[in-house]
Amino acid sequence: MQENIKLIDLIIELVDARVPVASRNPDIDGLGKGKSRLVLLNKSDLADAACNKAWMRYFEDKGIFALEVNSKSGSGIKAINGLVQKACAEKIARDRKRGIVGRPVRAMVVGIPNVGKSTFINSFAGKACTRTGNKPGVTKGKQWIRLNKNLELLDTPGILWPKFEDNLVGMHLAFIGSMNDEIIIMEELACDLLDVLRKLYPDAVTGRYGISWEDSAARMLTEIARCRKCFLKGESLDLKKAADLLLDDFRSGRLGRITLESPESPPPVSEQENER
Ligand code: G4P
Repeated sequence: MQENIKLIDLIIELVDARVPVASRNPDIDGLGKGKSRLVLLNKSDLADAACNKAWMRYFEDKGIFALEVNSKSGSGIKAINGLVQKACAEKIARDRKRGIVGRPVRAMVVGIPNVGKSTFINSFAGKACTRTGNKPGVTKGKQWIRLNKNLELLDTPGILWPKFEDNLVGMHLAFIGSMNDEIIIMEELACDLLDVLRKLYPDAVTGRYGISWEDSAARMLTEIARCRKCFLKGESLDLKKAADLLLDDFRSGRLGRITLESPESPPPVSEQENER
């Protein structure tokens, strides 16, 4: 990615609108020094609409160009071209002074696994030019996609590995599926999610499963297993199946539009981010 960054003018950084802090890797601030920057709040369709607005204000207040997008449906994508010109206004003016007119801005998409980089590139480029999938790092090959006379995009996204020193940030990344589920105890993760949802969106869970809150997350998971008929052989409940079902319902938006981080009390970030 360091090699590719040398070739570009603009970094288009995708974050997950449900967890805009946890889904950023602050290393990009160092790697992208001197480059124009644009932050896209992707998966905005899965996030709370009011929180999307609050996060937009947060980035704008920091002087960062930002936009809400849904790469799956293409909503918000059209507005990017205008914002790219704004984000690169200084570079364009500099080129003009040196007599270079009409050189397209070269951009690169970066983000942590599963944030929607491939889907975004496909949507923005308007054709299936990169593969998408649910496994991190599936995109291969390297070429420039000419989007219009003003903008060229590197077809290979830069993969930022999630970085966290804080448990809460790690948990948020696991909730959205940006960590490998195979190394996670899903029943524990489901209980953590239930604890968080109980505080932030209590009706989302009770409404979806038609049950009332129990006094502990573990009991609640048991109730979900019971009401969704998650049984092992015999009569015993399959809590792993219930946990998978809850996480899947959250990740796909079936629990409703949910944002887990707020700009008023964002989760702790690493030192580099604080230095910005
Ligand atoms: P990556 O390159 O950053 O690793 O992510 P990728 O594009 O592979 O996207 C990961 C998953 O996120 C895909 O779902 C994709 O459809 C979904 N996705 C991407 N952008 C958005 C968005 O704005 N809104 C919503 N709701 N989903 C989005 P998947 O289940 O892994 O694959 P698929 O079954 O959708 O193809």
